[in-house]
Amino acid sequence: MEVIRSARQLRHRLAGEGSIGFVPTMGSLHEGHLSLVREARNQASCVVASIFVNRLQFGPGEDFERYPRSLEQDVAHLASSGCQVVFAPDEAELYPRPQRVFVQPSALKDTLEGAVRPGHFQGVCTVVMKLFQMVQPQIALFGKKDYQQWLILREMVEGLAMPIRMVGGETVRATDGLALSSRNAYLSVTERAEAPRLQQRLSGVAKAVQDGADAAGAEREALSVLQQHGWVLDYLTVRRQLDLELPQAGDRALVVLAAARLGNTRLIDNLEFTLPDGHHGS
Ligand code: PAJ
Repeated sequence: MEVIRSARQLRHRLAGEGSIGFVPTMGSLHEGHLSLVREARNQASCVVASIFVNRLQFGPGEDFERYPRSLEQDVAHLASSGCQVVFAPDEAELYPRPQRVFVQPSALKDTLEGAVRPGHFQGVCTVVMKLFQMVQPQIALFGKKDYQQWLILREMVEGLAMPIRMVGGETVRATDGLALSSRNAYLSVTERAEAPRLQQRLSGVAKAVQDGADAAGAEREALSVLQQHGWVLDYLTVRRQLDLELPQAGDRALVVLAAARLGNTRLIDNLEFTLPDGHHGS
């Protein structure tokens, strides 16, 4: 496996590769990232992963500076997961001058994560577009852990007719249900023990709605339980999988999404679920 720092060298290395499968990351890798790399290996002859903590997608006062960085360990994990090329540019390589050209995502950028983190998805789309131009993959893989990001990036690729097949990976969790995240490293021992409650409440909401409960009531109950345990919620809401709009009667493919802070750590998670036939929806 090679670690490449410059876009020019990357282009040179990838010239002539048959099919390139690409996994963009911000490093501090865990099984969630590595599951995407392994899936890429199944679907492409050359697997490229990028590691770049993208300043553009962090708002003022967010954790850009303290975001965990562990290049050496990441490279070892990637090598043993079947990655062939790691692209790890520094900021001067990706943003040689201040970035003044941006990709404007669809209106999906304004809801949920986007409402709490203005500009976040523009930063994500811009860096992913730039990385796509450098790597020129045929296949790109993203996790559904970041559900809204996955939908927005899929829409970007489709809306701009980019010749890339987008593949979504299921969320990888710890044995107690907590979704793996680089930000879990911020949790204290007590917070880590509390953290699985978020996923438990999401399952609770999904199950209640599947059993015929009204979504708003189930959301309120989950919210109150989490608040009692010290969580500060940004949102916890049932939406349709298609476009994250509120479900209409007849919508069956739903997803419950939440973002919440535990101490100083902000965690997001979601769970897709389907209403049974004959269900009247909410
Ligand atoms: P990062 O948070 O490092 O995640 C990189 C990829 O791994 C994303 O597609 C994310 O959804 C996926 N991922 C993270 N945790 C996961 C889990 N527990 N299970 C499955 N997949 C998981 O997302 C980003 O970086 C950035 O926004 C990026 C797309 C790289 C642009 O900067």
